[in-house]
Amino acid sequence: MVNGKRTIAINTGGGDAPGLNAVIRAATISALNKGWEVIGIKDGYNGLFLPEKYPEGGVIKLTREIVKDITNLGGTILGTTNKGNPFKYPMPDENGLMHEVDRSDEIMDGFRKYGVDTLIAIGGDGSLGMASRFIEKGLNVIGVPKTIDNDLDKTVITFGFDTAVSFATEALDRLHSTAQAHSRVMVVEVMGRYAGWIALNSGISGSADVILIPEIPYDIQKAANHVKRLYETGRDYAIVVVAEGAKPKDGDVAVLEKELGKAERLGGAGERVARQLEHLTGEEVRTVILGHLLRGGSPTTFDRLVSLRFGAAAIRALEEGYENVMVALDPPTVQYVPLSEAVSRMKTVPLNSDSLLTARQLGICFGDEC
Ligand code: F6P
Repeated sequence: MVNGKRTIAINTGGGDAPGLNAVIRAATISALNKGWEVIGIKDGYNGLFLPEKYPEGGVIKLTREIVKDITNLGGTILGTTNKGNPFKYPMPDENGLMHEVDRSDEIMDGFRKYGVDTLIAIGGDGSLGMASRFIEKGLNVIGVPKTIDNDLDKTVITFGFDTAVSFATEALDRLHSTAQAHSRVMVVEVMGRYAGWIALNSGISGSADVILIPEIPYDIQKAANHVKRLYETGRDYAIVVVAEGAKPKDGDVAVLEKELGKAERLGGAGERVARQLEHLTGEEVRTVILGHLLRGGSPTTFDRLVSLRFGAAAIRALEEGYENVMVALDPPTVQYVPLSEAVSRMKTVPLNSDSLLTARQLGICFGDEC
C-alpha cells in the first residue's frame, strides 16, 4: 500500500459458479471508487506463474469498461482452474517422472511485481485453503465464498448454490411427467461431492421420493423397498435424486479418474443406483446426469445480489482495516470471519437439520430408515 492507495488482485479458483462475475464487478467498482487499483489474475494463479501460457500477459487491469454489464453472466471473465495446485504443482523430472513441486514463491514474486498488497480470492474450500497459505508469506487475503455445493463453513450460504438448486428443481419438475407417462423410475444425479445440499434442497422442492446424500450412507435394498411400496400403493413412478458423492453403507464413492495435482473426479453414482434399483425392483429405470448444467447459465436474482454484496463487502472489509477474513452471509448482514476458521471445516448437512426432518415427515426415503 502506498500513501493509503491499495493495489488489489482478484482471482477466481476452482469450479466456476454463477455469480463470479457479479463479485468481480462489485469489488472492482467499489475499489476504483476509492481510487485504488485492481488487477485480475487469469485462471486462478496461472496468470502469475505460467507466463508461457499468456503471451498477452497473465493479468488484466480491471476497469469500469471491463466489468460493465457482467452481473448477469455465468462463468468468469478471469477464467478459473481446479487443477495444478501451485503448492503441489505436477512437474516432470529429467526422467519424465511426475513430482509435486511448491511454486508458490513464484506467485509471491508476481504479486510483488505488480505491487499487490491484497488478494481477493473468490473460491470454495480448496481455493480459499490455498489462498490462506499466502497469508503466511505476508499477503493480506480477503476470501469470498463460492461454490454451487454450499459446503463452505462459516457462511449461511455460498453464491452459486441458489442457481444450481433452482435449475435442479426445474429439471425434477420436468421429469415427473415423463416418469409418470412411462411408469418409470428416474434417477437424477446432481453435483455435491462432500455435501448433499443440492440433492436435499432440490429433492424436497421437486418432490423426489428418494434422496441419497454423502452424509447418509445408503442401503440400496431399503431404497428399493421404498420404490416397490410406491408402485404397490398406486404411484407407478418414482423420482430418485443422487448426489455425486453418495455412497452405499458398505462401499465407497463412485470415482471416474484420479489425476496428479487434482481432486478425484467423481461420477457414476447415479448410474450405479439406477442399475441396482432396476435389478431389485424389476421396474424400468432411466438416469439423468445434471452435472455441469448446474454450474452454467445466469445467476438467479438471489445469487446476483449475494455476489454483489460479497464483492462490495470485501472492499469495505479493507476500508475497515480487516485482514485475512472471509466475507460471509449471516442474515440479515454480511459479516467478516477469520479465513483460517472458514477453511478448517466443511459444512455438511446436519442430520438433525429441519430440512432433513421435513423431508422425512414428507415420506422421502434417504436409504436408511425408510
Ligand atoms: O464446484 C464443485 C463441483 O461442482 C463438485 O461438486 C464436482 O465434483 C466438481 O465441481 C467437478 O468439477 P470439474 O468437473 O470441473 O472438475
